[in-house]
Amino acid sequence: MVDANALLHQQDPKRDILKTHPDDKPIAAQLLGSNPDQMLEAAKLLLTMVEPVFLDINAACPAKKILKKKCGAYFAKNPTNLFKIIEKLSSNLSLPITVKLRIGFDRYDEKEFIANVKNCEKAGASALFVHGRTMKQGYSGTVNYEAIKKAKAAVKIPLFGSGDILNRELMHKMLNETGCDGVLVARGALGNPWFFSGETPDPEEKKNVMRRHLAYLEKYKKTRPTGKLGQMKKTAMWYLKEFRNTHELRRQITNCRTIPELLALAKII
Ligand SMILES: Cc1cc2nc3c(=O)[nH]c(=O)nc-3n(C[C@H](O)[C@H](O)[C@H](O)COP(=O)(O)O)c2cc1C
Repeated sequence: MVDANALLHQQDPKRDILKTHPDDKPIAAQLLGSNPDQMLEAAKLLLTMVEPVFLDINAACPAKKILKKKCGAYFAKNPTNLFKIIEKLSSNLSLPITVKLRIGFDRYDEKEFIANVKNCEKAGASALFVHGRTMKQGYSGTVNYEAIKKAKAAVKIPLFGSGDILNRELMHKMLNETGCDGVLVARGALGNPWFFSGETPDPEEKKNVMRRHLAYLEKYKKTRPTGKLGQMKKTAMWYLKEFRNTHELRRQITNCRTIPELLALAKII
């Protein structure tokens, strides 16, 4: 996700997140913003930097600072600009434009939500990604399969379900119960890149991949050292989630004060 305004106007926007590995294909990009003209300008700039197969518009992020800018999940409350953005981008760019949206702002209203998804399709969206929660729910509470099912039935374009796809059983449940065309995996893949192949790694492999992941964060993440250390600790914890008796280890990770200290600890885990 890239903020259109930051991309266009900041001297050093978070361009490191646009870096990808050549093997990471196909890949998509997502833009966040509220102004149709600015979104188009940012999209054009973005396409000079990366080669996504489609471009997604974020109408789902519930962060307060994003809502203040009248974008992200704000569009669940007032979608006028969202439809204009879809129209603008899909009529001026040659790649497919998609939308990631939530099922409501502070509550789910079937009529309103279905009108929104239909209007996204009408405005030119090529596919929709629906996180089955409201903005207010954030990342917790029940995922509304019924809303996703209704949305899928209301449009002709492909529609993907999102929300609590934490394992393969939940993936099949979402596909079967909503009839959606695919799912988005988010927290289920944190510390578990094997989610996609369905393999079950042995503990040593898991630790090795964790060490590699930490090394990549150290090398590529462009944040202040404290932010980077925090991200690295969080990442280590994700990989250790299903290990037993890790209380002491977790305490040691939490207490690490520097990146070299954390890397040294990861080596002997
Ligand atoms: C670490 C993390 C980063 C995310 N980044 C984005 C993002 O850039 N754009 C977006 O539309 N959703 C983003 N999401 C939301 C997910 O796409 C997904 O809709 C949400 O987490 C619900 O799925 P889950 O319950 O399986 O985690 C992110 C989620 C997580 C956990």
